[in-house]
Amino acid sequence: MVSGKGTLEGKIAIVTGGGTGLGKAMALALAKEGADVVVGARRLEPIEQTAKEVRDMGRRGVAVSTDVTDSKQVNNLVEQTLSQMGGLDILVNNAGIVRGQQRREFWDITDEEWHLGIDTNLTGAFFGCRAASKHLVEQKSGKVINIASGEGLRGVKGNLMYSVAKGGVVQLTRTLALTWADVNIQVNCIAPGFIDVSTLQPVVRQGFGGRMAEFNPSGRIGVPYDISSMCLFLASSASDYVTGGVFVVDGAGLAGGYTPTGYAPIINLEEE
Ligand SMILES: NC(=O)c1ccc[n+]([C@@H]2O[C@H](COP(=O)([O-])OP(=O)(O)OC[C@H]3O[C@@H](n4cnc5c(N)ncnc54)[C@H](OP(=O)(O)O)[C@@H]3O)[C@@H](O)[C@H]2O)c1
Repeated sequence: MVSGKGTLEGKIAIVTGGGTGLGKAMALALAKEGADVVVGARRLEPIEQTAKEVRDMGRRGVAVSTDVTDSKQVNNLVEQTLSQMGGLDILVNNAGIVRGQQRREFWDITDEEWHLGIDTNLTGAFFGCRAASKHLVEQKSGKVINIASGEGLRGVKGNLMYSVAKGGVVQLTRTLALTWADVNIQVNCIAPGFIDVSTLQPVVRQGFGGRMAEFNPSGRIGVPYDISSMCLFLASSASDYVTGGVFVVDGAGLAGGYTPTGYAPIINLEEE
């Protein structure tokens, strides 16, 4: 799907969490396909690097320091996009804390931990949608792509806020898709399985994923391209009749009841 044929020429995109990992992969894929891209996250250096790589492709690239848990900063991200770029067509709500939660007893989870997990992984996406909504509804077109997780579609032992928030992202997606179906705004979400983003970090992480591939039916873990190509489909006119969808990209992990925690590895029944 990363054709480089300019199918998103003239489109303007926001990608939150676009300085690293999947956000960076999606920001660069959107730019390669012709879009101008604004990236927002808390650390300025990684988002400025992504914006530079976007400009190196001949597109407009801007970094706006943004904490998605603060609605004023998210409003500012959209306002900066509208004023500096002159529009907004594609919103990718990607920012999230993937590995933030400490393993602890349920009763020891603090209010602060609960709010951090929910605010970053769910409320941030709501703030993004709300900040962009008036503009998108008035222009009667837009693509909203929320990044959920396979962990939002099933229970997860010991990763409570993440799983609850990502389940909320799925419902945010469906509800907004219905709300905006008659104004030509498509709202979809991608539910990635385990994706190796180690090469898209400021410092490349070694040994990322460990033996995870052994527990996936496809025999491998995902790579950023698996997600960025789905993002391009959902950002393009090829998906104009696709809305409210939850696109699982996980090598048949969920289809087979796969658990990335390894609690239920696949066992060859014939050997039992
Ligand atoms: N990789 C996977 O296996 C996987 C699987 C399922 C779902 N996902 C989802 O994919 C998305 C990207 O994850 P990733 O794997 O690419 O991890 P990542 O490299 O850690 O990316 C997460 C990004 O979110 C940003 N972020 C975190 N808190 C933020 C906040 N409060 N405000 C603004 N930005 C914030 C971070 O930038 P700053 O720290 O600079 O703010 C970072 O760039 C997440 O939503 C994650 O839940 C990933």
